[in-house]
Formats: sequence, structure tokens, C-alpha cells
Amino acid sequence: MRKTFDLKNKFERILITGGAGFIGCALVKKLIMETNAKIFNLDKLTYSSDLTFLKEFSEEQESRHILLKIDLCDSKSLEKAILDCKPDLIFNLAAESHVDRSIDSPDDFIFTNIIGTFNLLKSVLKYFRNLDSEKKEIFKLIHISTDEVFGSLDKDPNISFDEDSAYDPNSPYSASKASSDHLVKAWGNTYKLPVIVTNCSNNYGPWQFPEKLIPLTITNALNNKNIPIFGNGENIRDWLYVEDHINALLLVSEKGMIGKTYCIGAREEKTNKEIVENICEILDNLVPKNCSYKNLIKFVKDRPGHDFRYSINPSLIRKELGWEVKHSFKKSLESTIIWYLKNQEWCKKTLKKSGYNGERLGLIDLK
Ligand SMILES: NC(=O)c1ccc[n+]([C@@H]2O[C@H](COP(=O)([O-])OP(=O)(O)OC[C@H]3O[C@@H](n4cnc5c(N)ncnc54)[C@H](O)[C@@H]3O)[C@@H](O)[C@H]2O)c1
Repeated sequence: MRKTFDLKNKFERILITGGAGFIGCALVKKLIMETNAKIFNLDKLTYSSDLTFLKEFSEEQESRHILLKIDLCDSKSLEKAILDCKPDLIFNLAAESHVDRSIDSPDDFIFTNIIGTFNLLKSVLKYFRNLDSEKKEIFKLIHISTDEVFGSLDKDPNISFDEDSAYDPNSPYSASKASSDHLVKAWGNTYKLPVIVTNCSNNYGPWQFPEKLIPLTITNALNNKNIPIFGNGENIRDWLYVEDHINALLLVSEKGMIGKTYCIGAREEKTNKEIVENICEILDNLVPKNCSYKNLIKFVKDRPGHDFRYSINPSLIRKELGWEVKHSFKKSLESTIIWYLKNQEWCKKTLKKSGYNGERLGLIDLK
């Protein structure tokens, strides 16, 4: 059967790190469903991971998904796994990913995002050096990073981050991601490892662990709990539907230039207050109560060092690789809310399994 993305002849064995997380599982699903490749899903299975999506696979699809429960910090197991699965393409998504958690416990971020990436690069380089020239020709390591590495912008709508923006991270999370980007680029420059870095903006969609703004707002609203907004709610994020992000990553793997960086964003800038109010309005329509969900909104103490605005200029990936946003923000936000409405049991189970109960994270006493 002809598959949508013609990666089959190019890449037959694809390794995804962090494939049990929010973005990783969307990538695993897309690759399993739309290529004939074998997918090696290497994941430590931390609190934010979940494998329920595997239930959507047919027997044939399931047979092409190989789960490797490995910590990037376990360099011996990591090296063996890479040598055993012989990938011709790697997507590195494994990371500690929540800014508030990075404020409470930065250690995990330093170990996974920096040491873990370093271990990955060392193992991959060893593997790459022993490939024959034909395999070397097609091999790529794509490192998935964030717009947060570029720091914070002010309100000026004419200024956005792009591939030439200087790094200026502010949180332990973004500093650890910035370090990992630098390591990946250094391995590309120094050892000629074929790497590409992508920096994307805030993703949203199904299967996101309910600690991030959109799923937390939906879950709290449905459970009649306060909906927290940090500070005055004027901080701006640039929202990207996860499927659009996955399409961008596939294009990068097919046509991206080795050594380059691609910035990915949908140009959907919203304040946090707008996002929360939008969600409440959609819920007022879908699950009406006698008063608006907006009554649950509570402005709470701001996040320490809260970046004001992120904004991505995606001109390069559009022009060079022909990437286009296919999902409108309005429709995708609504379909995401509908998914969470239908999957409240999943949310409850995932939260219970993780031990996280919606409590405020990342609040330090700055006195
Ligand atoms: N979600 C976003 O809005 C966003 C935006 C920009 C960039 N990113 C980047 O995209 C990637 C994926 O983000 P996400 O939202 O899916 O995160 P996530 O937290 O949902 O998933 C991360 C996955 O990595 C795994 N993991 C964590 N530590 C590991 C380790 N030491 N070894 C192996 N696996 C480990 C976890 O078990 C989990 O499955 C991250 O690198 C993140 O920095 C995310």
C-alpha cells in the first residue's frame, strides 16, 4: 500500500526518543500509520508519558512498534540500544519539558536534557562512524527544541524569533534545552554528525499531560475547580497544533538541510487570558452550566522569571521545505477540547498514575 509520506525507501528503521510523551506519541502514530518503517520508541516512561495510544494500532502496526524502556542517562543501555536497532533516522524528543517543574527540581532537567543529549550524541556518533557510505548518506539526527531558548520578547508585533535569533534562555528548562541545542550543533560542526535542530512554539492537541495550560484549564473547568492564570494573564504564547508540528518534522526529515536549524510556529499568538477565556466559551457551548466557566478563573501569583512573549517567524521552513499550517486554531482548539471531554477517564488515570493532582508548581518564595 502506498503511504502518504514517502519515507519508506529512505528510512526503514526510525528511532524516536520520548515517543511515549505528548508530541512523541503523535509522531510515532503518524509514522506507524503513514509509512512502512519500523519504529523504535526509546523512552524512560516518566510521569508525563503514556502508552494508551498503542491501542489504536492494528496487529501489523503494533508489530512495527518496538518499545525500549531506557533512560538517556543510562549510557551503556543507550549505546547498546542504538547499535541493536540500527536506525537510519533519529528524532530526539525525550526531555523534561515543564518550566514550573524545572523551577522546583532543576536536577532532572540538567540530567535528562543536557547529560542525556550528550550520551545520545556520543552513542550515535559511534554508531554513525561504522555505517557504510550508503547508509551514512541518508542518516540524520533531528533534535526537537523550543522557542524558549531565545528568551523573551516584548509586545512589538514586528519582532519574532527566527533561525538567526541569539540564545538567551531564562528558566532552568529553557537553559537546559539551549545547552542541548548547542551540544547537538557542536557534534554537527566538530564531528560532522548529520544533525538538524528544530525550535518550535507551544504545542497543543490530544494526549498532553494535564499540567500544561490548555489541558489543565479544560480538566479544572470540568471538575469545577479554579482555573489559575499566572500574573495578569497578558503573557503571550504562539500556539501550534501538534499535527502541524508533526508534518513539519516529517518534511525536515525528508528535505531538511544537514546542519541547519528550522523554526516552527503557526503565527497564532494569544495571551494566556485569551486562551483560557476561549476554552471557557467553547465549554459554555459544549457543556453548558447555569453560569459561565469563566467564573472559575483565578489570577494567581506569577511564575518566577516568567517570559513575557514568544513568537516564531516560520518563513524559512515555509520557503525552503514548503511547510504550511493546515489546522486552524479555532477548529483545532475545539477538537482538542472535545477530545479531552471524551477522555476524562484517561485524564483521571494519567493524573493518578503520576501522583500529580493539579497543585501549583514552580512557586518559590522570592523574599
Ligand atoms: N510541548 C510543547 O509545547 C513543546 C514546545 C516546544 C518544544 N518541545 C520539546 O518537544 C519535546 C517533546 O515535548 P513533549 O511536550 O512531548 O514532552 P512530554 O513531557 O510530554 O514527553 C517527554 C517524553 O520524554 C520521556 N523522557 C523524559 N526523560 C527521559 C529520559 N531521561 N530518557 C528517556 N526518555 C525520557 C518522557 O518519559 C516522556 O515520554 C521536548 O524535547 C520538548 O522540549 C515541546
